[in-house]
Amino acid sequence: MRKQEFFGMAREEAVALLAAAPVVRLASVGERGQPVLRSLHAVVLDHWLYFHAAPVGEKSEAVGNEAVIAADETIATIPSHVFDPERACPATTYYLSAQAHGTLHAVDEPGLKARVLQALMEKHQPEGGYAPITADDPRYRGAVKGIAVVGMPLTQVDGKAKLGQNRGADDLGKVLRFLWARGEPGDPRAVDLVRAANPSVPTPEFLQAPAGARLRCAMGPRDLAEAVELLAGQYWNVDVPRDRIARAQVSSSAWVGARDEAGALIASGRGIADGARCAFLLDIVVAEAWRGRGLGKALLKLLLDHPQVRGCRRVLLRTRDAQSFYKAYGFRERVELPGTEMVLNR
Ligand SMILES: CC(C)(COP(=O)(O)OP(=O)(O)OC[C@H]1O[C@@H](n2cnc3c(N)ncnc32)[C@H](O)[C@@H]1OP(=O)(O)O)[C@@H](O)C(=O)NCCC(=O)NCCS
Repeated sequence: MRKQEFFGMAREEAVALLAAAPVVRLASVGERGQPVLRSLHAVVLDHWLYFHAAPVGEKSEAVGNEAVIAADETIATIPSHVFDPERACPATTYYLSAQAHGTLHAVDEPGLKARVLQALMEKHQPEGGYAPITADDPRYRGAVKGIAVVGMPLTQVDGKAKLGQNRGADDLGKVLRFLWARGEPGDPRAVDLVRAANPSVPTPEFLQAPAGARLRCAMGPRDLAEAVELLAGQYWNVDVPRDRIARAQVSSSAWVGARDEAGALIASGRGIADGARCAFLLDIVVAEAWRGRGLGKALLKLLLDHPQVRGCRRVLLRTRDAQSFYKAYGFRERVELPGTEMVLNR
């Protein structure tokens, strides 16, 4: 197998990367054949990528020409010493990248122009606070007419996910342990992505879980709906609206979880933590069908070892009836505050 073949990315993932990128880059040629390279806000609608432009300028000049539009995301830098104590050669960066090739088309139809502009607003000003853009709204008619909108059909799209696929199991084990130990902000997510890209890599010790369960170091927006489903019925959340439960998960400093072999979310736990002094653990839950099999322990161990939590000297949580579960990890009831609070001093 050629090296390149390791890194292929599914077309939908490449399109998703282009769609989600805060900024994409456009390479094309202008009227005089001069090279054009621009950074753009772009949206994907109905298998086309669109951006807006001034009616006069290099972006509009490129209409009718071939172009490449690209996006990328750095996942983690991997220093050489992970693989070799002396040689610099193995230093690398793990990343995702995607590019679309095609011809640029001017969009003249006001309804579609307005849809593109509205989609750009929804992407970059998701909180709203404006009247939605439509072509026949008198507040926008002039603007829709005056702004150029350019599109490229997403027929030729490819991507690359460089996540260690060219490395053997031993090296990947080193990478996973290094990322977890380094614990920079993107590193827990990098652990999850490297494992997902290399499904046969043995599970490192810090991710050991009961058979059939797979721990996740960095839960995110894609996990949200299922996590809220697990949490909404729990006794401490009965009066908490679902959107608040959701906001709390994504705003946490540490959010870990687990999925079963079919991909369903079966556990979730989070912490708000300063990485050095104090952490508070919340919303720790295991799906009913999975309770009593050791998954809660594995989840708690991972959460306590999370880079944002592991350095904290004081770890707090509240529980109504799971004291014995936490005591096994050194938590004690707080004597200075009788009641439901427990604290782990370390
Ligand atoms: C508490 C919870 C997360 C534990 O998860 P789990 O996967 O069932 O736990 P494990 O299988 O890893 O069991 C860990 C140990 O804790 C004990 N334990 C589990 N739940 C407990 C509870 N609610 N109270 C007391 N002990 C409990 C188990 O008996 C087990 O003991 P053992 O090792 O001596 O056999 C899970 O039961 C749950 O989601 N409960 C409902 C939500 C909840 O109460 N969350 C905690 C809020 S603070």
